[in-house]
Amino acid sequence: MTDTADTASAPKSVKDHAQSLGQEHSIWFKLTPFMKGDDPMGTVNRLLKKMNGVVPIKMRDEKIFMLGKVEHFDRIFVKKVDQYHKFFSGLEPIFGKSMITVDGALWQNVRTPQQKSFHPKVYAEYIPHLQSAIDRKEEMWAKRAESGESFEMVEETWTLACDMISKALFDREFPINANAVYGAVKAYTSVGNHKELRLKKEHDGLVEVTSEEAAAGAIEAWHTVPDAIINSDPWKGRENTLLTLFQELEADPDNPTYDHEQAIDEMKQYLWAGTETTALTMAWCVYNLTQNPEMMEKVRAEADEIIGDKAEPTWDDLLKMTYTRSVIQETMRMYPPAWALIREAKEEDEIDGHKIMPGDKVVACCYSVHMNEEYWSEPEKFKPERFEKGQMKKRVKYSYMPFGAGKRACIGGQLAMIENTMALGQLMRRFEPEYVGVTPVPFNITVTLTPKGGLHFKLHERKKKA
Ligand code: HEM
Repeated sequence: MTDTADTASAPKSVKDHAQSLGQEHSIWFKLTPFMKGDDPMGTVNRLLKKMNGVVPIKMRDEKIFMLGKVEHFDRIFVKKVDQYHKFFSGLEPIFGKSMITVDGALWQNVRTPQQKSFHPKVYAEYIPHLQSAIDRKEEMWAKRAESGESFEMVEETWTLACDMISKALFDREFPINANAVYGAVKAYTSVGNHKELRLKKEHDGLVEVTSEEAAAGAIEAWHTVPDAIINSDPWKGRENTLLTLFQELEADPDNPTYDHEQAIDEMKQYLWAGTETTALTMAWCVYNLTQNPEMMEKVRAEADEIIGDKAEPTWDDLLKMTYTRSVIQETMRMYPPAWALIREAKEEDEIDGHKIMPGDKVVACCYSVHMNEEYWSEPEKFKPERFEKGQMKKRVKYSYMPFGAGKRACIGGQLAMIENTMALGQLMRRFEPEYVGVTPVPFNITVTLTPKGGLHFKLHERKKKA
């Protein structure tokens, strides 16, 4: 097995489980002072501007540097990528020792064989499976429209993304109540709440409360998901899926990295990295379109024109849906799900006159470059036309980072674009979402950039054209 994967999904006591939520050394805790209030990103941006792109934060035992310039991103993600390692401390329970967390030869060995499941040729094969998940969501939304009740959109798009990943990558119907799993995932990703979950102020001291059980329950639930998927019946009986690849790799005696634990951790990674981010993007897209009705009409017109009455779009259709894609790209500029990417320095370095020592953490603030007027005109405005054909050439390198950069960039970015292009066009032409929450939406900064309190909508069926 790997040098580091020995504890990934090992059984732990309830107490250990709960303690692994909200580890004191987690960098996410150290950043919590910046995450308070309704405009935490504004605070981060103002600080970065004032400090000329580098905000050094001195903690008791370590230093964190927030970075907000494209040159910094070029340095840590490309030029000196091998001396800035992934830093996922505090999130081990959710990711284990999967590809997204490891570095060096181990990372290469884990990523390389999986790359073939993320190739355009394979994406075309995924389309009917993605479509099946969208059809199912459409049926559920018809019931929502009938009931007239309001609901929270991120949870709704999360269960859609989860259904899509489960069918396309694993050839399984998601075997567990997806909403319950969403709840468990949130127990991790709402990092700022971990302490409250585990501890309660009592008199002068901090004492543990029984919610430790609930925290442990969330972790236990999360741990059971991959095996439940593996042990459920194949959905279509496809021979080559990411899941069958894991099984082949597991059976290969020449590749000891891939044992069962590694496969489990990879699956957990996909069920988070491939769902939360895609779901947030889709939910923010729906919000943006309801705020811009003329753009909503253009998305609908594109789906009508290109998909028409077909049961599902073809690969070529999806490439032609350029307006819908621009809406999604612009949404990820203003609401990048991965608002910051963290690395740990392994060697001494200097960034804009700041000495970086081994062990120091650097936090690349993607949100800040996306909202910087040096790189984007009127960054506060939602303008999908920024992503029209030909516009990309004018863009400053690394000023658009929704999927990261360099060799550690997202493996599933293109898949996410396909999922959201298919879902957005088809769901919006059938339904009229009505946003019933507050505007502007305050942010809650956790591992991802989420809407504080969620995005609440009602749905209506659209009147069919005569
Ligand atoms: C809108 C949707 C998505 C966004 C915004 C997003 C964003 C990102 C970002 C920023 C990274 C780089 C993290 C870093 O450098 O620290 C990343 C990595 C990754 N993403 Fe995504 N992602 C999305 C969808 C997906 C999907 C659909 C999958 C798979 C089904 C996926 C799987 C991964 C994996 C496995 C990595 C780790 C790659 C590596 O370390 O080699 N992501 N993602």
